Amino acid sequence: MAASHDAKPRFDATQKVFRLDAGKVTYAMGVNADGMLQNIYWGARLEDADPLVALPAPERSSFDPKGALSLQEYAGWGGSLTATPALKLRFDDGNRDLVLRYDSYRIDGGDLAILLRDAQAGVKVTLHYSADASTGIVGRSAHIENGSGQPITIDSAAAATWSLPPANDYSLRYLTGTWAGEWHLQTRPVAPGATVLESRRGSTGDENNPWFAIGRGSDWNEDHGDVWFGALAWSGSWQLRVDEDILGQVRVTGGFNPFDFGYRLKPGESLDTPVFYAGYTGDGVGEASRLMHRFERTRVLPEGPTPKIRPVLYNSWEATEFKVDEVGQERLAVKAAALGVERFVVDDGWFGARDSDHAGLGDWVVNRRKFPNGLKPLIDRVHGLGMSFGLWVEPEMVNPDSDLYRAHPDWVLNFTGRDRSLGRNQMVLNLAREDVKAHVFEVLDRLLAENDIQFLKWDYNRNWSEPGWPQMAPDEQQKVYVAYTRNLYDILRRLREKHPGVEIESCSGGGARVDLGIMALTDEVWPSDNTDPSDRLSIQDGFSYAYAPATMMAWVTGSPNWVNGRSSSLDFRFLSSMQGGLGIGANLLEWTASDEEAARRYIAEYKTIRATVQQGELYRLLSPQGRAPWSATESVSADRAQAVLFAFQRQGEEARAFPTLRLRGLDPKARYRMRFIHGKAAPGTPDTASGAYWMQRGIDIAIKGDLQAAGVVFDRVR
Ligand code: DGJ
Repeated sequence: MAASHDAKPRFDATQKVFRLDAGKVTYAMGVNADGMLQNIYWGARLEDADPLVALPAPERSSFDPKGALSLQEYAGWGGSLTATPALKLRFDDGNRDLVLRYDSYRIDGGDLAILLRDAQAGVKVTLHYSADASTGIVGRSAHIENGSGQPITIDSAAAATWSLPPANDYSLRYLTGTWAGEWHLQTRPVAPGATVLESRRGSTGDENNPWFAIGRGSDWNEDHGDVWFGALAWSGSWQLRVDEDILGQVRVTGGFNPFDFGYRLKPGESLDTPVFYAGYTGDGVGEASRLMHRFERTRVLPEGPTPKIRPVLYNSWEATEFKVDEVGQERLAVKAAALGVERFVVDDGWFGARDSDHAGLGDWVVNRRKFPNGLKPLIDRVHGLGMSFGLWVEPEMVNPDSDLYRAHPDWVLNFTGRDRSLGRNQMVLNLAREDVKAHVFEVLDRLLAENDIQFLKWDYNRNWSEPGWPQMAPDEQQKVYVAYTRNLYDILRRLREKHPGVEIESCSGGGARVDLGIMALTDEVWPSDNTDPSDRLSIQDGFSYAYAPATMMAWVTGSPNWVNGRSSSLDFRFLSSMQGGLGIGANLLEWTASDEEAARRYIAEYKTIRATVQQGELYRLLSPQGRAPWSATESVSADRAQAVLFAFQRQGEEARAFPTLRLRGLDPKARYRMRFIHGKAAPGTPDTASGAYWMQRGIDIAIKGDLQAAGVVFDRVR
């Protein structure tokens, strides 16, 4: 990340206080008389001269002695500590005591590095801090170094502990999910005790996502209230713990999942944690999301600060599944191009003996029965039709029925002599192995060198099981939890460097690998295999709490939907998908002429609003969570020249009208003309009015019936 986008950290040597002032936020730490690095403030921006001092560690009783519960930035487990440590380790000689105290600091551009050490034990921890000048989002990570004369084993290593101001009225929002049902938004009070969000799956997972938002008071909502929020940039097993202690102190500790962790460091060796990003706003969780979105677009995505607009894509999966061949794909490509599609993606089934999910994974050679002359004729045809070409891969997996597995049965995660569990008839290649990593890189590098490909859909369709690494000494095997993910990142980074024209989507049987780590190396993500447009409203809404619409792909597929059997109109399907990066995944050979005509019109409309939808500011106006009957979102372009409103009624009831929608984020003095992409306004609605009118009076939309939708564009009138 470019340091120039980070605020310059400051150090007050008299008070021993560090300050990060960025955006509307101040984050401050101080060194107390005992040498502990304490959090002393995190919230709305303070004046430069405001007094901030570290306080003595509290001592309540013999059960809560000094240091047991103090708000340390990064506590080692040792001394009297009873709070959740950021770092816990053991030395080969049996010592497990680690007391980290402030040593020194360095400021290098926007990077603040604070060295903590246990001088006696010989362990050094360098905490890195940076603060994004625009959003105030702080990034934290730790570099842990074994400066002792003996090996150590790290039992748990967090990227950061975030301390909130002591209060007893916090509540936590977080995301849970499962295959085809990702991104459910949950809320629970933060009470004494712990809430653990985690993945033990080897990858990010969809059971929980590594994102949190904690609001204060009983009435924090979209537009109002203090909210602290954050996301961990890690695509392996992870954990976020929200602890409230007996003093009402609330901390969020996150990093590598301590479960089954055990990272050996020989003398002189070190371990870097992932980066944990977190921010604060006084303007509600809607603003927290917008800050995250802006941060992701400008600081996380590989093409930032101005990531490319997502092209309208076609994907063959729901149309043909494994039955892909040159003739069939070409017929779909011709249809897609005629609709205005800009990218054609061939999904699973093009390689090896891949006629079902039982065979072929790992054999990344073109299936000559399906593509007799290789991929080139189809790629040329797709290019000739004016579209870019994309291809599905799942490089980290292998079917037992594959040439790769027959040649290298030792390449998968496994414990010697134990069963190897299958998931979707496949196993996980151990990417932590350098030979496996080299192989995966070479295969993909060759695929991209030999074929004129612009896009890879990178899939990952199961969890880890039996995560052994038998080629390593027993006490080194658990390094797999770190090395696998780092090698995955390295492959992605090198592929991007060598093939700069290629974009990549992160898919994991839907949205099971979406996090800021993978996002830094991919251009878009697939939130869910569930493409039902009504279910998608909740899925996309939940997604938007943490992640930017600029990354969120959404396809229009067939009706009835394959996941839940629900039928819906093409209008509803298009409008639901136009809330993100628009794709088409239906069998176009089954579409009627009027379907095609409607699709052509929606795609053309989408191209006029997609910059606003993908890269504008998102306002969630009506929440679809909890199977609510209504949903509405508004996106406003950065220059406030355009706003796009989507409104959905899942179910009409009695004679109830759709709620008046009051817009947000417009220029109150400017005039905006509205036009409907689909649907209509209630009688008496003006075509043109001021931003103030649309934001205060709002707009009434005439919607009646089930699964109805409207799309409205507001353009500023010069
Ligand atoms: C799971 C993905 O989420 C789907 O979109 C599709 O690519 C299949 N895998 C292919 O096996």
